[in-house]
Amino acid sequence: MTSHDARLGDTCALVTGAARGIGAATAELFHAQGATVYLCDVDDDLGNSVAAKLGARAHYRHLDVTDEADWSRVTTEMADRGHPMRILVNSAGAASKSSIMDTSLAELRRMIDLNLVGTFLGLQAAGAAMTAGGSVVNLSSLRGVLAERNIRVNAVCPGSIDTAITAGAGFADDDMNAYVKSIPMQRRGLPLEVAKAILFLASDESSYVTGTDLMIDGGTSAGARTPKLSSS
Ligand SMILES: NC(=O)c1ccc[n+]([C@@H]2O[C@H](COP(=O)([O-])OP(=O)(O)OC[C@H]3O[C@@H](n4cnc5c(N)ncnc54)[C@H](O)[C@@H]3O)[C@@H](O)[C@H]2O)c1
Repeated sequence: MTSHDARLGDTCALVTGAARGIGAATAELFHAQGATVYLCDVDDDLGNSVAAKLGARAHYRHLDVTDEADWSRVTTEMADRGHPMRILVNSAGAASKSSIMDTSLAELRRMIDLNLVGTFLGLQAAGAAMTAGGSVVNLSSLRGVLAERNIRVNAVCPGSIDTAITAGAGFADDDMNAYVKSIPMQRRGLPLEVAKAILFLASDESSYVTGTDLMIDGGTSAGARTPKLSSS
């Protein structure tokens, strides 16, 4: 691909949770489309190795999304290096595998901090950094609150995607098979299939799209698959 063909040429993106899963797939795809990518995570070994594999235009930085000072340090560095953030993907997150009765208050607070406060701090950082406009994609369902500043905010809502977050997610094998059969597309999704939707929302190809929640769930939200009745 020439830089002329690249969908994100000359753009700087910050991707959180970029050491693995959907975040890593998104960072790789953005990089392949010409972007300078800051891969941010708390898993420094894994994050550094993903960035090293990508090479030039890929920079790993330790950024705990729940830490305001980390956001400020990384976005200031980006601006100082002539890489102002134009795209933010909030992909850092975790899922609790316990029921309400088995979840401690400390665990609940950790989840809120990571999934909600982390996204909030990311939106604040984007609001401060994207003085020339930009695009934010959340892996949650916050709405398009910055549109009047020419910053589009959209969300992708993955169904069950095959990453570490869902590994052994409390399903027995039989339960998992039954669950997969209930998905209209009859399979779980791949991180790259989410990353491609994030690329669309992050790029100018979606320039009139803001405040959207895009389901990427193999049809699950459209309704569970109705099993074929045998003709007897
Ligand atoms: N995989 C799915 O089926 C699925 C479905 C719906 C939503 N999601 C959401 O998509 C996002 C990405 O999920 P995934 O499947 O790629 O998960 P994953 O577990 O593979 O990756 C999550 C990444 O976030 C990083 N992380 C954790 N805490 C962090 C922190 N405080 N600061 C920065 N990074 C941190 C982890 O180190 C890891 O690299 C999550 O927000 C998740 O809730 C995933």
